[in-house]
Amino acid sequence: MASPSFTSESPPLPAPAPASGSAVPSEVPATDSARSRIPRFYQLSIGERRELLHARIELSEADLAALDSGGIHTSIADQVVENVVGVYALPLGLGLNFQVNGRDVLVPMAVEEPSVIAAASNAARMVREGGGFAADADEPIMTAQIELLGVPDAAAARARIEAASDELLAMAGATLPRLLARGGGPRELEVRLGNHPARVIVHVHVDCRNAMGANMVNTVAESLAERLAALAGGRSGLRILTNLCDRRLVRVRARVPVAALGVRGTGDGSASDAFSGAEVRDGIVAASQFAEDDPYRAATHNKGIMNGVDAVVIATGNDWRGVEAGAHAFAAANGRGQYGPLAVWRAGEDGSLIGKLEMPMPVGVVGGTLKAHAGARLAQRILGPAATSATELAMVIGSVGLASNLAALRALATDGIQRGHMALHRRSAELKHDGQAARAPQHTSDRARDRPTKEGSR
Ligand code: MEV
Repeated sequence: MASPSFTSESPPLPAPAPASGSAVPSEVPATDSARSRIPRFYQLSIGERRELLHARIELSEADLAALDSGGIHTSIADQVVENVVGVYALPLGLGLNFQVNGRDVLVPMAVEEPSVIAAASNAARMVREGGGFAADADEPIMTAQIELLGVPDAAAARARIEAASDELLAMAGATLPRLLARGGGPRELEVRLGNHPARVIVHVHVDCRNAMGANMVNTVAESLAERLAALAGGRSGLRILTNLCDRRLVRVRARVPVAALGVRGTGDGSASDAFSGAEVRDGIVAASQFAEDDPYRAATHNKGIMNGVDAVVIATGNDWRGVEAGAHAFAAANGRGQYGPLAVWRAGEDGSLIGKLEMPMPVGVVGGTLKAHAGARLAQRILGPAATSATELAMVIGSVGLASNLAALRALATDGIQRGHMALHRRSAELKHDGQAARAPQHTSDRARDRPTKEGSR
């Protein structure tokens, strides 16, 4: 296992967009309604934004109610968790300009931190000028761990368990008939000997297809424990998935033409004076190297990646604690002896900036929260084809993570984040403690105005 490096060529970078004076590559094979590039979207009212969304994925009254309420009713919430007294909503926005493997995608993002959605959209626009994100993902493999304790001879136990591998995989498969019918199921069994002489650890790798898979993998772990303990001559200990799902990685690459990176100056000689594209590129590469050298910086670098990743993971009803645990465990278990960055940046041979992200992405597009959460179901519809499989969704989420990282490093390498960040923070600071706007901001409007008209998009 290693941090992203520039030696690997997978996935290949897409061809850069032709220089046309426009930020939108002219050959993008998308109809207007499938486009993720919507200029001045941020200046529209909520109602107008919904009009544009409505033109893409017809919004019903139930969808609008979900957008207004947060997507889950209290009575449903009461069936999902315990001791319910209400529901808790987050702002939901759209990440724009994303193009992943040549396909435009509108990205639903649920997040409370100002500037995350704007920054990711802005970075996606820059990447778009280089041909968009190129992504690939492993098969959706999650791993069950069964701990065996009090094993008198670990090496002999390993040999007996490995010899019974076919029988054990068949037993595991028998607990998941519906997964087998969908083409998934247990794929491989692995025996590990830990530091403790009497402990043996068995991993069962399960292809979970379009599910995140935690429940299925935990079922496998529990169903095999007794038989494994008998084979080992010991007793079973913990039986649960590992969140370090390093067989379920997503890899994303992006190229940004140097001309797209420059920062225009204010002309007032202040800290926000102009930066050339080459200066910004070199600043981003230096920031990447800082994170590669220093775990304190790598933690913050990765937090910026998770700003984008978590927003999509939450919007799509996935388990963000699992994604977080996997990300940071992977960043720590990179074989270099210290916690490192999940994405790195270098200058390409043609002078462009090239970024590469690699991280576990245990997300699903079936089961879990989706049954209970109308907002998560709507998020899938917004994503369209990008939510038709767990691996497609993983590739979009990885792209949003890389975009968030690019935006943060570009700001840090130039003006610092406070100028742009604080301008957006001020808007939310203008809210009184009871959540009422201190002065009605221009972008909010009453519920009636927030509904799309029957005529559809303007
Ligand atoms: C803030 O939410 C995220 C950043 O700190 C990320 C980074 O420093 O790279 C700006």
